[in-house]
Amino acid sequence: MGSLLDFFRSSIGKKVVMAVTGLALFGFVVAHMLGNLQVYFGPTKLDEYGAALRRVPALLWSARLGLLAAAALHVWAAWSLTLANRAARPVGYRQRQDHAATYASRTMRWSGVILLLFIVYHLLHFTTGQAHPQFVEGAVNHNFVTGFRVPWVSAFYVLAMLCLGLHMYHGVWSMMQTVGLSHPRYNHLRVAFATFIAALVVAGNISFPVAVLAGLVREAPRTAATAPAQAR
Ligand code: HEM
Repeated sequence: MGSLLDFFRSSIGKKVVMAVTGLALFGFVVAHMLGNLQVYFGPTKLDEYGAALRRVPALLWSARLGLLAAAALHVWAAWSLTLANRAARPVGYRQRQDHAATYASRTMRWSGVILLLFIVYHLLHFTTGQAHPQFVEGAVNHNFVTGFRVPWVSAFYVLAMLCLGLHMYHGVWSMMQTVGLSHPRYNHLRVAFATFIAALVVAGNISFPVAVLAGLVREAPRTAATAPAQAR
C-alpha cells in the first residue's frame, strides 16, 4: 500500500495518472461527439438518444461519477506535475527540445483551464439549463437548436473546441509517450495519429453550431414534452 502511494507521488506515477484519466476523458469526448451526430438523422433522434442515456439512472450516475473522478485526478496530476517542474527548474531552458516541451506544456495549461471553464458553462447550458434562457428539461433537440442559434454562444463553443483540439493533440501525443509508444523512427506516425483524432473531434463538434446557424438543423415540431412550461 505504501509503495503504491509512493508510486502515485512520484513524477512517473502522476504521468501514468494523467495518461489513464486522459484516455478515459478522451473516450468520453469521442463517444459524446459520435452520439451528438444523431442530430443529423432527424429532429427527434437526439431526444431519443438523450432519453436512452437516462433510462438506467444507476448506469448514468456511475458514468457521471467516473467522469468526475477522472477529471479531478487529471487536474490534480497536471497541477502537481507543474509545481514539481517549477521547483526542479527555476532557471530557463536552453535547448531547442526543451523549448518545444515548455511550449507544449504551457499550451496544455491554458487550454486545460479554458476547457474547465467551458465544461462548467456547458453543463449549465445543456444539462441543468441555468445558462440557457429557452431551456426545457429533456427536450435535447430544442435546447441544442435554440442554444446554438445565439451567435456569441456558437462562437464560444467554436473557440472552446479549438482549445479542445490543441489539448487533445498534445494529450494523445504525450500519452503515447508515457505508455512507451515512442520511437524516433515511428514518431511521425504518432504525430499523424494525434492530429487525425483531434481534427476529427474538432470538426465534428464545430459542425454542430455551424449547422444550426446555417439552418441545416431545425427544431422538431413542438410536443407537450418540448413546449415551454408557461405555454402548457
Ligand atoms: C459542440 C460540441 C458539443 C455539443 C453539441 C454537446 C452537446 C451536449 C448536450 C446536448 C448535452 C445534454 C445531453 C442530455 O441532456 O441528454 C451534453 C451534455 C454533456 N456534455 Fe456535451 N457537447 C459538446 C461538447 C462537449 C465537450 C467537449 C465535453 C467535455 C470536454 C462535453 C461534456 C459534456 C458533459 C459532461 C455532459 C453531461 C452529461 C450528463 O451527465 O448528463 N461536451 N452535451
